Amino acid sequence: MLEDRTEQPHIVTCTAPVNIAVIKYWGKRNEDLILPINSSLSVTLHQDQLKTTTTVATSRSFQEDRIWLNGKEEDITHPRLQSCLREIRRLARKRRNDGDSGVDSASLSHKVHICSVNNFPTAAGLASSAAGFACLVYSLARVFGVEGELSGIARQGSGSACRSMYGGFVQWIMGNKEDGKDSLAQQVEPETHWPELRILVLVASTERKPVGSTSGMQTSVKTSCLLKHRAESVVPGRMVEMTEAIRKKDFTAFAELTMKDSNQFHATCLDTYPPIFYLNHVSQQIISLVHRYNKHCGETRVAYTFDAGPNAVIFTSQQHVPEFVHVVQHFFPPETNGADFIKGLPVNCASLSEEL
Ligand code: ADP
Ligand code: DP6
Ligand code: CO
Repeated sequence: MLEDRTEQPHIVTCTAPVNIAVIKYWGKRNEDLILPINSSLSVTLHQDQLKTTTTVATSRSFQEDRIWLNGKEEDITHPRLQSCLREIRRLARKRRNDGDSGVDSASLSHKVHICSVNNFPTAAGLASSAAGFACLVYSLARVFGVEGELSGIARQGSGSACRSMYGGFVQWIMGNKEDGKDSLAQQVEPETHWPELRILVLVASTERKPVGSTSGMQTSVKTSCLLKHRAESVVPGRMVEMTEAIRKKDFTAFAELTMKDSNQFHATCLDTYPPIFYLNHVSQQIISLVHRYNKHCGETRVAYTFDAGPNAVIFTSQQHVPEFVHVVQHFFPPETNGADFIKGLPVNCASLSEEL
């Protein structure tokens, strides 16, 4: 009998960028399926900036599924990893049963070894779980020959990961089905839509946050009445306004909504009991600097947003980057404990460092 005895593993390597929410997701209505209490909207960064790189290998000689994150082995039995592995294998099996599988995709009986590296701080409020799980799901899909809509699987790894499956401006529609089948990400506008828009990341701390997003939002759902009000009465209107501001490339409207939504998200963290403090004194100084700068200019030229961590993400347009960077460097010279470094992260074009 002929048998394929090759020990050669089947290997794929993929990268995925982070996405930064301008209308924040905070709170789940279903913890297992990761279904949110409100829709959210984000901007996906350029592939070659803050990103995860994941290699997945399968081989008949592997005894069990395993995962390494930034060089350290992690627990593969984590329910979220298991959800992603199970769902990709289920889709792969379905495709094969339908007689539709890729010729060179890996055998379904083979175990996987996953090796994932982030090129930026992990769990510091720079959306590592988003890039990480988006990359994991995409790489697994490639190795097992699965195609099509994958944001519903990435969502089950980390909610924000579903939005990193698409480039440009992306919404995560909360959906209302109990099985979560309609809780998916959808591109609102492509990468090419707003070429003058620029993103700067001001790193105030590279440390792991004291309270992870998952447990932080759990406590907020249980204790914050501001969060309930936000999800039911504020976010639905903001989703419409934000989509419109992006469609029209109306920077003033985009910037003001972005800042207000970040502020309200951090207000819900304070309204959580016990309260959660993600912003530090550098973050607060950056917030007041942005408002002072905009006032000085007589128009809104710059916006900030902060995820669950102290690091600022700044939106501005190409023409204002040099001046604003200059202002930041003046107030946070590299020798002081201000922002540790500034990285220019254009959504779509050449990097800031090349321009300066
Ligand atoms: P962040 O603000 O960085 O998204 P979170 O608290 O949401 O922080 O999530 C951090 C967790 O996400 C990590 O502890 C880890 O479990 C998971 N994670 C981060 N990067 C990856 C990755 N590349 N692959 C798989 N899981 C990852
Ligand atoms: C503040 O997606 O990291 O960044 O679904 O529990 O993995 P889990 O949480 P996560 O939460 C992100 C929260 C946020 C806002 C956002 O990205 O929308
Ligand atoms: Co996260």
